[in-house]
Amino acid sequence: MSSCNVSYDEVLQSFFEVAKRAGTTILNATNSQTSSSTTYLDTKKNSADLVTETDKAVEKLISTTLLSKYPTFKFMGEETYKPGTPLDDSPTFIVDPIDGTTNFVHGHPYVSIALGFALEQKSVVGLVFNPYTGIMYYATKGGGAWKKVLEPTGDGDWKLRNERVKLPIGEPSAFAGLDGTMVAVEWGSDRSGSNWQTKVNTWNRLGRSKDEGGAMVHSARCLGSAALNLCAVAEGHVDIYWEGGCWAWDVCAGWIILTEAGGIMADGNPPSDGNERWEIPITHRKYLAVRAAPGGQKETVKEFWGHIEGWMEYEH
Ligand code: IPD
Repeated sequence: MSSCNVSYDEVLQSFFEVAKRAGTTILNATNSQTSSSTTYLDTKKNSADLVTETDKAVEKLISTTLLSKYPTFKFMGEETYKPGTPLDDSPTFIVDPIDGTTNFVHGHPYVSIALGFALEQKSVVGLVFNPYTGIMYYATKGGGAWKKVLEPTGDGDWKLRNERVKLPIGEPSAFAGLDGTMVAVEWGSDRSGSNWQTKVNTWNRLGRSKDEGGAMVHSARCLGSAALNLCAVAEGHVDIYWEGGCWAWDVCAGWIILTEAGGIMADGNPPSDGNERWEIPITHRKYLAVRAAPGGQKETVKEFWGHIEGWMEYEH
């Protein structure tokens, strides 16, 4: 039970139910498609920022379901967000109906429904569900982070395929420097100016050999869903995820899954004034997630910050 008398387990239960319905909607939309490239309805700020009928329908399904059960709570969803609306301390559902819309449009199966619940601006319940693989991640504050696998029954419902396992999977190893890490990065949809330049310059530094001043990380992955990237870090098969430009609905659900799995979320910008930021708001839009480790998490963040070339600034 939380400070506002809502049971996190009850919210999670509601998330399970609505995620399965949303997953079925996404699968049905995929099955009825005639061509993967015709799905998108519109672009938002530019030609790389896509929205589909399914994004809108799934958000409507989720908001209607959750708000009918919790009518006094607020709802912040990607498709209905009014720019500039602040997140306040109220109990708030923060939802991305399809995280990975570009993947969805192209038929690439790295797509998720990201259901987050924030109290006093902190993520306390999260569920991330990929309907194509059936993999579902979830966590409640203090309740640990978990992964299970579902499969469609064929009549619109889902059944359990693999029992839940606790995250992270396996015993996390200590960090021994950035050069032993797998890093997730993302292009995002902002492709100009100093934000884009910072990303490109930093990717160059991360990959480049050490004798040329780089970090020479093992490799980078760019999979197209912020929520699933956070779950990959929570699970432990990606060590670090760095991105600027994504929104609260992209990270809220995955955030609590990450931290309940022992990971940390730091500032995606390096300290500008010598002040290291280990606590950032959900709406920060610049994130650096690091997996659980018995030692070296903060040192890894600091080493990463040392390779960021530039500074990212995004509007709210
Ligand atoms: C996007 C994805 C992508 C990230 C973008 C997000 P959307 O969300 O999470 O991985 O790079 O910043 O906006 O638009 O597919 O819901």
